[in-house]
Amino acid sequence: MSGEDLLRHHGDVDAAPGLLDFAVNVRIDRPPAWLRQRLADALDRLGHYPSATDELAARNAVAARHGRGADEVVVLAGAAEGFALLPNLRPRLAALVHPSFTEPDVALRDAGVPVTKVQLDPDDGYRLDPAAIPDEADLVVLGNPTNPTSVLHPAEVVRRIARPGRVVVVDEAFADAVPGEPESLAAEPVPGVLVLRSLTKMWGLPGLRAGYALGDPELLGALVHGRAHWPLNTLTLEAVVACCEPSALAESAEAAREMAEAREALAWELDSLPGVEVHGPAAAPFLLLRVEQGARVRELLRARGVAVRRGDTFPGLGTDHLRVAVRSRDSNIRLVKTMDEVLGGRPGGTGVRE
Ligand SMILES: Cc1ncc(COP(=O)(O)O)c(C=O)c1O
Repeated sequence: MSGEDLLRHHGDVDAAPGLLDFAVNVRIDRPPAWLRQRLADALDRLGHYPSATDELAARNAVAARHGRGADEVVVLAGAAEGFALLPNLRPRLAALVHPSFTEPDVALRDAGVPVTKVQLDPDDGYRLDPAAIPDEADLVVLGNPTNPTSVLHPAEVVRRIARPGRVVVVDEAFADAVPGEPESLAAEPVPGVLVLRSLTKMWGLPGLRAGYALGDPELLGALVHGRAHWPLNTLTLEAVVACCEPSALAESAEAAREMAEAREALAWELDSLPGVEVHGPAAAPFLLLRVEQGARVRELLRARGVAVRRGDTFPGLGTDHLRVAVRSRDSNIRLVKTMDEVLGGRPGGTGVRE
């Protein structure tokens, strides 16, 4: 595969039908029944164009959820649309913090924007030092928590990267999976900081395309300049409203707590296997592993019906890196057992706590 193809690689390619999927970081395999019902009810409204009122209702819902103004919100067809719109900001140099999700890299390069990588060091825990960002970068993109390292950067570090004349894009696609969202900047207007959020992961909605951006109204205006008329469909707008309601927020907060608990158990068990190192502390609903002969192990797992995400398509990582989603307890146990089998087992048990 070419470098460009590798950047375009996503976990859905690793997860073929029939495999137990640890490659894609979507929490559930379909939206919950109450959300499917909301979307089904909204089908009747497809006979009309999405109205300004529908769009405002979605922005109001997001604004209320994060304590911001409706003019500080733009609804997006997924966080990915936010990346695709970044060239509208006409950056002269974009600094992309890696290892991280590669879509911003692809979108900016495709638009001819000069890009530089800020490569974080595993020996330093992939810690982000604001001094590592080149002074001349007028656009900075980072993930928080970061895919695939599961690292959560302190909000203070992000604030320190912001400065006049620079836009800092914080991809918070997984922030709703972090209990209490302690380092999120979604609720805090910081000049020049643009926060991207996704509904995809928490709500099992990758097929719908729903997310939003939060930031300064002027910056948002520049971001969406030239966008198609009716850029969002009625179902997306309905999902945004539904997922910001108090009952949905309570459900997602509970899911975040459960995922964090499941992640701690899974990290401990995987780390106990010989030849496996789990990067920590982890904050997202996935773990970055370093596994001896990782590429071979991934093939062997696949042959036993388990899909994990290859890590080498993320800049700075190699074939020994694998990413695994945190799933239900039963599925996690199967992953650990299968990994143990593939690695040849070891005396004294598997480290699995049943
Ligand atoms: C870190 C990260 N950001 C953004 C996205 C895209 O999210 P959305 O589905 O909202 O476009 C993904 C999808 O995999 C992701 O992993």
